[in-house]
Amino acid sequence: LQVKLCINRNMSDVPVCVRDYEKKAEETLPKAVFDYYFSGADEQQTLADNVAAFSRWRLYPRVLRDVSNVDLSVSVLGQQLSMPVCVAATAMQRMAHPDGETATVRACRSLGTGMMLSSWATSTIEEVAEAAPHAARWMQLYIYKDRNLTLSLVRRAEKAGYKAIFLTVDTPYLGKRRNDVRNRFKLPAHLRMANFETPDLAFSSKEGYGEDSGLAVYVAQAIDPTLKWEDIAWLKKMTTLPVVLKGVLRAEDAKEALKYGVDGILVSNHGARQLDGVPATIDVLPEIVEAVGGRVEVFLDGGVRRGTDVLKALALGAKAVFVGRPVLWGLACDGEKGVRDVLQLLKEELHLAVALAGCCSLKEVNGSIVRSSGVFSRI
Ligand SMILES: Cc1cc2nc3c(=O)[nH]c(=O)nc-3n(C[C@H](O)[C@H](O)[C@H](O)COP(=O)(O)O)c2cc1C
Repeated sequence: LQVKLCINRNMSDVPVCVRDYEKKAEETLPKAVFDYYFSGADEQQTLADNVAAFSRWRLYPRVLRDVSNVDLSVSVLGQQLSMPVCVAATAMQRMAHPDGETATVRACRSLGTGMMLSSWATSTIEEVAEAAPHAARWMQLYIYKDRNLTLSLVRRAEKAGYKAIFLTVDTPYLGKRRNDVRNRFKLPAHLRMANFETPDLAFSSKEGYGEDSGLAVYVAQAIDPTLKWEDIAWLKKMTTLPVVLKGVLRAEDAKEALKYGVDGILVSNHGARQLDGVPATIDVLPEIVEAVGGRVEVFLDGGVRRGTDVLKALALGAKAVFVGRPVLWGLACDGEKGVRDVLQLLKEELHLAVALAGCCSLKEVNGSIVRSSGVFSRI
């Protein structure tokens, strides 16, 4: 009986979905770290909606289509990936596991997918490149008040073989994440934002950050809140890498972005961490896809937790999706292997969803297989 109980317990411990990894990560991580990773802004309305909104879209499968072979491969910004699920930039990954971003990039490499590295990584641009030279890697960029500093990040990314810049445009100030204020969130003393030299810029100031979220104070000090469209022209002029705008929620902004020659749009509300009350990303995806009209690739992040979520986003016109928190949960549970397991899980779930929808490849995934559960006229 002892043995049986033991086996039963072990079996039920095996994570079978992203939510299981989240629960395990919550048990593993220090509270302030879990809070930082988990939190959305203010009342966290959008945080809940990012996930819930996927359930308001329904799948309409075709049958009798020989789905014995399913191909999930996709081209993203000119690079071939094994699946349309990529890793979003999430800051300070060494709080989750000592290997941090280097574990994440290795996991991406072994799964054949791509990683967007945060400007605020706790591993350097070069360390991450060295950890997986052949992985598809993209650099997420914040524009600092100091433009030379900003440009140095771009140059380092170019030199280290990153293949695109994802410019975050939704963070002139940091959204108010209440638990981070309560916890006076800052980096543990042994860590720093590794891409910067001075303690002020590396978010490792010994003076502390007062009674607020340390990161909110950091952003107010360092990040440029004057960012405007002309700065996109500036960045485009400064680099030959493709520039993707990360954080677009309106069709008008997507159209404006096209005028400035951007190379992609990432429909994102920053994992609901900036302006609370904005719509779930899946709900605004269709109007942005329509506005863009196929001129550049459109991506989505926010609340993607299941293979069916990915399928719905692709059916509504996203070329690929990005996942943020699920990767952190995998990293917290088991480092590189944990991230690999989470990505593999999503891949298998997507494979099943695509097959059950009656499709053999992503080219067959189109708007006919998804409808808003409230609007049945959209066939
Ligand atoms: C802990 C955490 C840190 C993040 N750090 C960054 C960052 O440094 N730069 C950025 O552009 N976005 C950042 N994001 C936003 C993600 O890139 C992405 O938009 C979001 O996590 C997607 O939502 P999801 O977590 O529901 O998958 C962060 C998100 C989280 C959860």
